[in-house]
Amino acid sequence: MKSVKINQVRHSLTGTLSFPGDKSLSHRAIMFGALAEGTSHFTNVLSGEDCVATRKAFEAMGVRIEVKTPTEIIVHGVGLHGLKASRQAIDCGNSGTSMRLLAGILAGQAFESVLTGDSSLSSRPMRRVTDWLKQMGASIEGKENGNFAPLKIRGGKLKAIGADLPVASAQVKSAILLAGLYADGVTSVNEPEKSRDHTEKFLEYFGAKIGKGEPQGRPFMVSIKGGQKIQAHSFEIAGDVSSAAFFMVASALVPKSKLTHQDILGNPTRIGVVNILGKAGACLFTKLSDAKGPETTMDFTVENGPLKNFEIKKDELPSLIDEVPILCVLATQANGRSIIRDAAELRVKETDRIQSMVGQLSKMGARIKAEGDSILVEGPTPLQGTVVQSFKDHRTAMSLIVAGMIAEGETRVEDVECIDTSFPGFFELLKKLGIHYQLC
Ligand code: S3P
Repeated sequence: MKSVKINQVRHSLTGTLSFPGDKSLSHRAIMFGALAEGTSHFTNVLSGEDCVATRKAFEAMGVRIEVKTPTEIIVHGVGLHGLKASRQAIDCGNSGTSMRLLAGILAGQAFESVLTGDSSLSSRPMRRVTDWLKQMGASIEGKENGNFAPLKIRGGKLKAIGADLPVASAQVKSAILLAGLYADGVTSVNEPEKSRDHTEKFLEYFGAKIGKGEPQGRPFMVSIKGGQKIQAHSFEIAGDVSSAAFFMVASALVPKSKLTHQDILGNPTRIGVVNILGKAGACLFTKLSDAKGPETTMDFTVENGPLKNFEIKKDELPSLIDEVPILCVLATQANGRSIIRDAAELRVKETDRIQSMVGQLSKMGARIKAEGDSILVEGPTPLQGTVVQSFKDHRTAMSLIVAGMIAEGETRVEDVECIDTSFPGFFELLKKLGIHYQLC
């Protein structure tokens, strides 16, 4: 297992950076391309392990996908009813998005499939998806009543349901909407807060009609009528805002830095991190850039400067759910007490991210603690280099590397191979910025 050693960065970070394609969009591009009628051509697709797992899943189900370069693919769609049973179990690796969205699609197929994952994914809760899919008529088996992978799914004719989700989750919403494409009637999903809306945007862009909102106080309700076909489309995938977030925070923290992050996904349901940087008083400039397929993109410039404390409330959480670890690092340098409230969902990500960030940043000298499912951070606190654990979680690993950039002395982050699940090229970007590190 590889570790990385990094020292405090003593020069400013400046320039313009581009990022690999957004992970959520890359998964959906492969899925929609596969289920569409016709051929789709996508560029700047994320070549990280999570999206490769999704591509291999569809190849195993008979979809021809030409991989022109690691980031450019041509997907020969087979239509909604053209998938074939995979001869082997489909391995989703570490990817919750692959497993949950695939479960929705497989619920509509008249064959049996098995979804497996690594040890982290096999311990993440699946009943939040499988219970609804069972209600729609799929038969699903998994440990603890369908809660844990491996999941055996036998799909077929589905009936529409109205799902009222207890927790906002784009993966759950997307699984139900995708199953809804195969259902008789109109399937609806209501969420307590609005989670990322890429599946809705992709459905519309690929030609399906969806319903949004409802007069009776359910602004986050989405519905879809089953039996609609989707048509192939070609586009470039916008840069991943969740990957850019590490460099946005690094440029806010490293003295005299100013970095522009160009052609980044600008979807309002994803850019909570930018709003928080703004609230913390980071000097920030945003500029709309060209739309890419179903999504808008933006350039974000972040400049180093004094930071004030911030609060993240429950309804803001979905728009920055994957950025909480790096925002904990930001909070250690903000003046005053920052609070991230009601973040229970972080406990069921690739690791328990409340526990991992509180534990590891404390080791570095941060004044950070958990109170129930909230995180409290007092700042500013100088960080000290030491040995910290990623727990094989890509976002924990990258957040701790950014903490290492501002910590005194040397920081060693253990188990950093996991970064490849979402951000191949992370270390090359460090190099491009003149940041020295040593992999060992
Ligand atoms: C994702 C949704 C988010 C996020 C994950 C990707 C998606 O999870 O954490 O990394 O692509 O739909 P939930 O909204 O399901 O919590």
